[in-house]
Amino acid sequence: MLATQQSLSVEDIEIDLLLEGIFRQYGFDFRKYARSALRRRVRNFIRDEQIGSVSLLQDRILHDRQWLDRFVCSLSVNVSAMFRDAHFYVTFRKGVVPLLRTYPFSRIWVAGVSAGEDLYSLAIVLEEEGIHDRCRIYATDINDAILKRAKDGIYPLDLIKSYTNNYVRAGGKRLFSDHYTAAYERGIMNSSLRDHIVFAQHNLASDASFNEFHVIFCRNVMIYFNSELQAHVFNLLHESLVTFGIIGLGARETMKFSPHEHAYEEIDKNARLYRRIA
Ligand SMILES: C[S@@+](CC[C@H](N)C(=O)[O-])C[C@H]1O[C@@H](n2cnc3c(N)ncnc32)[C@H](O)[C@@H]1O
Repeated sequence: MLATQQSLSVEDIEIDLLLEGIFRQYGFDFRKYARSALRRRVRNFIRDEQIGSVSLLQDRILHDRQWLDRFVCSLSVNVSAMFRDAHFYVTFRKGVVPLLRTYPFSRIWVAGVSAGEDLYSLAIVLEEEGIHDRCRIYATDINDAILKRAKDGIYPLDLIKSYTNNYVRAGGKRLFSDHYTAAYERGIMNSSLRDHIVFAQHNLASDASFNEFHVIFCRNVMIYFNSELQAHVFNLLHESLVTFGIIGLGARETMKFSPHEHAYEEIDKNARLYRRIA
């Protein structure tokens, strides 16, 4: 016990206390986020906000919800792109859409939706494949501010250009420009894409399962968690998925070594799409 305490730096102790305080005051649980990345973000935050120490940050956050909201934004990495990992979407069209066609109605959960890049990519595929009307998509994130951006579905035109290349490589069936309207250097995604989407805040670390889904995307979220929190999230996803349901992970994530590894089969070796078989 003494050895553990001695090996922790003062900063680490302060970070532990900060995370514990946030959890007890607000219920947001960052205690099991991968520590080195989290430490870096906390340091950047107190430097950018010109706060003298982590303890002073704790004081502000515990007494003022607005500071918590800013801190949550700074902790969440929102890097994303439409049709990122073209092969993922090619495999989704070929290997998952035919299955969804056999269902009268599908519930889909996009967890850790960020500003909606993955979400609109998915909605575009479903629309092009003629099954969008038969799907309800639940888009969730821990970060309320980023969720609002997802709802708005507005992206800078220079980004849209790179999304256009991804879309073509991912097997897009029309022109990407059919799916948005350009105005004032920005692209606004077609409102029809949003027709069957429910947006809600949900914390994968502490909130419960809220439905049973046929497809769950949880891409590039768990890479920021330690192995204990990853196992917790895998359990949550598993209990939220119907038998023969599909899970889509990010390129650097895998079902291997997860608590339910043997209940899934790979749809394709390189696509990180898995079908629940047990
Ligand atoms: C890198 S983005 C991934 C976006 C998208 N899924 C993709 O692959 O392009 C990670 C997202 O996970 C969200 N996130 C982080 N911790 C979370 C948690 N505990 N519960 C729900 N979302 C979380 C962040 O706010 C961020 O929007």
